[in-house]
Amino acid sequence: MSKVTVVGAGNVGATCANVLVTNNVADEVVLIDIKQGLAEGKTMDIMQTANLLNINTRMVGVTNDYEMTKGSDVVVITSGIPRKPGMTREELIGVNAGIVKSVTDSVLKYSPDAVIVCVSNPMDTMTYLIHKTSGLPKNRIIGMGGALDSSRFKYFLSLALNANPNEVEGMVIGGHGDTTMIPLTRYATYRGVPVSQLLDKETLDKVAADTMVGGATLTGLLGTSAWYAPGAASAAVVAAVLHDQKRVIPCSALVEGEYGESDICIGVPCLLGKNGIEKIIDVKLNDDDKALFAKSAEAVRKTNGALAASL
Ligand code: NAI
Ligand code: 2OP
Repeated sequence: MSKVTVVGAGNVGATCANVLVTNNVADEVVLIDIKQGLAEGKTMDIMQTANLLNINTRMVGVTNDYEMTKGSDVVVITSGIPRKPGMTREELIGVNAGIVKSVTDSVLKYSPDAVIVCVSNPMDTMTYLIHKTSGLPKNRIIGMGGALDSSRFKYFLSLALNANPNEVEGMVIGGHGDTTMIPLTRYATYRGVPVSQLLDKETLDKVAADTMVGGATLTGLLGTSAWYAPGAASAAVVAAVLHDQKRVIPCSALVEGEYGESDICIGVPCLLGKNGIEKIIDVKLNDDDKALFAKSAEAVRKTNGALAASL
């Protein structure tokens, strides 16, 4: 039996759970939140679509009862506060570090073999916090950011190309921050054709810029941060692990020499399977991209510095 727990029944967590059950990704999905009744209510609402959407997954909603999460194969952590307009992801660190640490402890008490997918922001730093405090092997801690940023990148490329987003390939690596992510425009393709042959530099630069502020743009429009694509991107990472899909998805992983960096979690292309991050794919970067990656790593390392009180 496969079981997934989603911690945090807010916008992202509930959306992730909804995508998981709608696509029958797991046999059982547990949604848990600290706010009385929220997970139960969202679960009831989602499961009332079961006969409309042919859902066969069992879903349970609970308030802070971690015993119900027992034996989970994958746990997604979305608990914490989101960005408000004008806020950076980094400003969330103080509150979210305490929440992510205590949630991870509670989750591992009942699911010591789980793969953890961290979504809470600042995501690269929260993922690093889990590495520093949980004692889990590095392959079982996955930060979700690149899956979302890459999907946004492909969407903006598809608009520029007037194409079907499913026929566009592309990756975003580096930190999950407005100034730290690196859309790899040189490697992006449309039906196998490099997009650099189809779009001029000015257009490609705009696609990259729109991708980088993708989260901030939505926060401005919505008054809080986005949830449909973040929830779906989290569910895609869960499915890749649970079904041993061996998909390559950019995720925040602990690097130990890869891309010239170590002792940070940062977005790199990861091969995902039943063991979590089974391999980091070493893409050959040109000098410009290498410089951007080093700068991105520096910014992530600086944010990690603010964790001192939580370690
Ligand atoms: P939200 O406010 O809608 O939901 C957060 C939920 O966490 C709330 O329901 C709250 O009650 C719950 N919570 C707080 N403390 C908890 C605890 N100790 N145990 C269990 N539940 C607890 O926020 P939203 O929009 O769902 O965002 C969640 C997090 O995900 C934020 O930190 C946000 O910045 C981050 N995020 C990350 C993305 C990524 O790509 N990595 C994308 C979008 C959001
Ligand atoms: C996003 O990228 C804020 O991380 C959140 O939408």
